[in-house]
Amino acid sequence: MFGSDEGPWNHSFRLEHKLGRRLKVVALIDPAIERATAVLQKKCDSFVVSAYQDTRVFKTLDDFVKNMTGKERPRAVIVGSPPMYRGTFQPGRDIEIQILKHFPGVAMFIEKPITTGPIYEIEEGFKIAKIIEESRTICSVGYMLRYLKAVQMMKKIIEENNLTVMATIARYACAYEKILKPDWWDKSKSAGPVVEQGTHFCDLSRYFGGEVDISTVSAHSLEWDENAGQLSKMGIDESQITPENRIPRVTTATWKYDSGAVGSFTHIVALHDTNYSCELEVYADGYQLKLVNPYVQPVLHVRKPGDDNEQITRFPDDDPFFSEVSNLIDIIEDIEEDPEAAQILSTYEDAVKTYELTWAIRAASERSRAAKLWSSAEAANVMV
Ligand SMILES: NC(=O)c1ccc[n+]([C@@H]2O[C@H](COP(=O)([O-])OP(=O)(O)OC[C@H]3O[C@@H](n4cnc5c(N)ncnc54)[C@H](O)[C@@H]3O)[C@@H](O)[C@H]2O)c1
Repeated sequence: MFGSDEGPWNHSFRLEHKLGRRLKVVALIDPAIERATAVLQKKCDSFVVSAYQDTRVFKTLDDFVKNMTGKERPRAVIVGSPPMYRGTFQPGRDIEIQILKHFPGVAMFIEKPITTGPIYEIEEGFKIAKIIEESRTICSVGYMLRYLKAVQMMKKIIEENNLTVMATIARYACAYEKILKPDWWDKSKSAGPVVEQGTHFCDLSRYFGGEVDISTVSAHSLEWDENAGQLSKMGIDESQITPENRIPRVTTATWKYDSGAVGSFTHIVALHDTNYSCELEVYADGYQLKLVNPYVQPVLHVRKPGDDNEQITRFPDDDPFFSEVSNLIDIIEDIEEDPEAAQILSTYEDAVKTYELTWAIRAASERSRAAKLWSSAEAANVMV
């Protein structure tokens, strides 16, 4: 929420810009009290001091609830804790339910992915989605790429030309050299790179392709112990992670959408240096919409009927993190008369569906690998 060396996600900065002097952060809840206090000190030493001068730090939500004054009752709760601590009904991993209980009617922003527990917990996510919807709680989940101007232009082209999407092709190649959190490399902690990171592009694929027929998902992976999977610039000590929890270097999947369209997705852990290389192609009769480099410098390539050449549009100053925060605030404040003006583009239920797709991809790739190992072992037995 306060930025990090690994990327531009800094929601506090966007909230400060959106709300100016109206932003009052009543509490910062983080078990790492020292880290939270240091972050607050920096804010208080800067020109945004008015938002943070009365902020109190608590280790848990319960501590805040017990000590909160009437004036400190929040109007929005921004959840940026690691996903393993949310998205279920289990104590310590049920922050949404706790917020709904203590602060009914208060808006929530939840980071993606909605959780990272075992696959059988997905049903709990759907139940939480239902509770959020039925209580009419405003809730936005952090799939910020949906808010990109390029993505909205793609949507507009599809709508205005009444197109039916035929295929989505997504590729997400991360620059792994700078990924230094050991948990990220450990499937038992992060649920793996497709669930934790590729989720953004699985989500965008769904945004264009619609609902996925989960039973059709098939996938393959290149694993850490295969020749082609050796990485020379890994910044963590992978020997500290148990072999069955080490992450794949490549995962590639295909599926059918309920509409009949076909989706494909490849996640790659291979690039060095800093920038990721990510592309999404969407095809419809006569059209190719290609989103390139959405994290760094979004560029949209559009090929339309009647011209073999692509039209290229660049979006140099687009900040989807700001649009995401801005839309949420506008909806909470309900100041906009035009109902089309600000929208939450990723609801909790939608985010659970993306989570379900990413888990289905991981599970399918693990099944393929197990089948391959089994058939290799069979072949070896036959030879003996
Ligand atoms: N949209 C994006 O591009 C984007 C980018 C980065 C991270 N994220 C998401 O943000 C979330 C946090 O990621 P991160 O890399 O900042 O994680 P992190 O490990 O740095 O943790 C964030 C903070 O949460 C605190 N924390 C740990 N347990 C907690 C708990 N039970 N309750 C409250 N706070 C707790 C930590 O002390 C830390 O200060 C993840 O869901 C991640 O996927 C999204």
